[in-house]
Amino acid sequence: MLLFFTATLLLPMSSLRAAPGSMDTFLSRFWVQPIAPQGKPQKSFSKLEASLDPSACGTCHQRQWEDWKTSLHAHAMGPGVMGQLVEVHPTDTSSLRDCTRCHAPLAEQEASLKKQLRGKKSGGTLHQQGLVCAACHVRENVRYGPPPMTPKSDGKFPHNGFVVAPAFEDGRFCAICHQFDQDGYALNGKPLENTYAEWQASRYAKQGMQCQSCHMPERRHLWRGIHDPEMTRKGVTVEAIPPVVTGGNISARLVLTNSGTGHYFPTYITPRVTVQIYQETAGGQLAEGTLREITVARHVAADLSAELADTRLAPGARAVLEYLVPRHPDALAIIVRVRVEPDHFYSGLYRSLLEAAPGSKGAGLLRAALKNSLESAYNIFERRHTLSEPPGR
Ligand code: HEC
Ligand code: HEC
Ligand code: HEC
Ligand code: HEC
Ligand code: HEC
Repeated sequence: MLLFFTATLLLPMSSLRAAPGSMDTFLSRFWVQPIAPQGKPQKSFSKLEASLDPSACGTCHQRQWEDWKTSLHAHAMGPGVMGQLVEVHPTDTSSLRDCTRCHAPLAEQEASLKKQLRGKKSGGTLHQQGLVCAACHVRENVRYGPPPMTPKSDGKFPHNGFVVAPAFEDGRFCAICHQFDQDGYALNGKPLENTYAEWQASRYAKQGMQCQSCHMPERRHLWRGIHDPEMTRKGVTVEAIPPVVTGGNISARLVLTNSGTGHYFPTYITPRVTVQIYQETAGGQLAEGTLREITVARHVAADLSAELADTRLAPGARAVLEYLVPRHPDALAIIVRVRVEPDHFYSGLYRSLLEAAPGSKGAGLLRAALKNSLESAYNIFERRHTLSEPPGR
């Protein structure tokens, strides 16, 4: 780790200093769980420099702030998470931390969350802002960041400058939350979150492409993933052979390839992707018995007790749907599509939580989360081929 000095850099003898090159040592100290309270800011700090609120950082770092606000990191304490956390007793710190260590990891966020759970109005809103700037960049009031893109002048910077940490450019920085370790929860020999290991086994790791290369191009703070149709389209290739009618049969073919995703497509147990071909009758109805589909997902039981199937696509792998089905007498068109439901697992989870306890404290939030989870579905590919009149009609 390098130190980036400014005229009056007042780094406390931070436990974060590690020998150069020992990135893992740096990361294990930086991401110590739980993150220690920041403590009192240096006397020289203005109120703005002392604030941990993302909007304060955004006063000076406008680009990161504008990006971050639109990202899922900024919404990591949404209704699906809060609907579950409101059921936890505010003194049950370890249950809270089971979730907040990834969703809102600062000690100051734990404090404001506990105040909300106790029903206090004046606790602040830092926890509601999810994965805030300071969770990734600030320890003991010191700023940490990647090596600057352009050399910085020797001038005096706000917040006493910053410490340069090359770990920010490395995928291991993301693995803290996007990979369960060896002793973490696993099904069928694979951790429930296995993104880093999937990436390590891919050609992208060999080429030196980090998580940041795809998810933070030009250091943008957008972190687009499967919830963003444009991002998902970049990660796959869809090839469709248009339908042909011969005799009484319709044949077609649809191939979905993981051509640009740096890990399994999709990486988590939560999304479901379906590759579908079916015949449609008047009024857009599915002609009975004509649907053929392949599901691309890691399907686990709702209580996470077992893996039921894993049909995800490793980098380079493909799913092929061959269609050969008699023409339905009422069919007017053939639909060929690839549908993505990013929150498929969560829809089921919210439904079962609501069924089990419809009058619980979190029920209102969970209903909102259920609605959002259903609305996030989209098609990355869709073609409608009109059929000519069948002979003799
Ligand atoms: C009063 C303005 C101001 C405020 C408020 C502020 N910063 Fe900075 N920050 C700067 C300036 C100026 C620099 C040095 C030049 C640069 O990198 O933009 C800097 C540098 C940084 C860097 C290092 C960038 C690199 O190249 O590695 C990080 C990270 C950072 N700030 C994070 C934060 C965070 C997080 C907050 C809020 C908790 C914050 N800053 C609040 C002005 C500010
Ligand atoms: C402190 C924990 C933490 C760290 C560190 C972290 N993430 Fe995340 N990330 C999360 C959480 C939690 C979510 C889910 C937010 C939500 O939807 O509630 C998320 C969501 C995402 C998503 C959106 C996924 C989707 O479903 O569309 C992407 C992409 C992502 N992170 C990439 C990264 C990358 C790349 C890094 C490293 C630079 C990183 N994350 C570092 C916790 C973290
Ligand atoms: C190791 C990090 C980690 C821990 C611990 C964790 N999550 Fe998450 N969580 C994530 C990531 C990453 C995502 C986004 C990927 C996805 O959709 O699965 C996510 C997504 C979610 C979502 C869906 C998105 C949203 O904001 O509605 C919910 C709900 C959720 N987590 C609840 C919880 C709860 C409740 C706990 C505690 C029991 C918890 N998580 C613990 C990393 C974590
Ligand atoms: C999930 C962790 C995470 C969060 C949250 C986060 N950042 Fe960053 N930030 C990073 C990483 C990682 C990099 C380096 C990316 C790279 O090198 O490709 C970075 C880079 C930066 C830089 C240097 C940019 C440059 O062009 O050199 C600044 C400044 C910064 N972040 C400020 C912020 C501010 C302000 C916020 C909140 C609005 C924020 N960050 C939120 C992880 C995070
Ligand atoms: C070669 C580009 C590339 C690299 C490298 C890459 N990703 Fe992705 N990632 C994508 C694309 C494209 C998607 C959208 C399709 C999808 O969801 O699989 C995605 C989706 C995601 C998602 C959404 C959830 C899901 O189920 O798919 C998360 C979280 C994520 N990536 C995290 C990471 C992390 C962490 C790393 C590093 C270990 C990483 N990614 C490396 C391209 C990449």
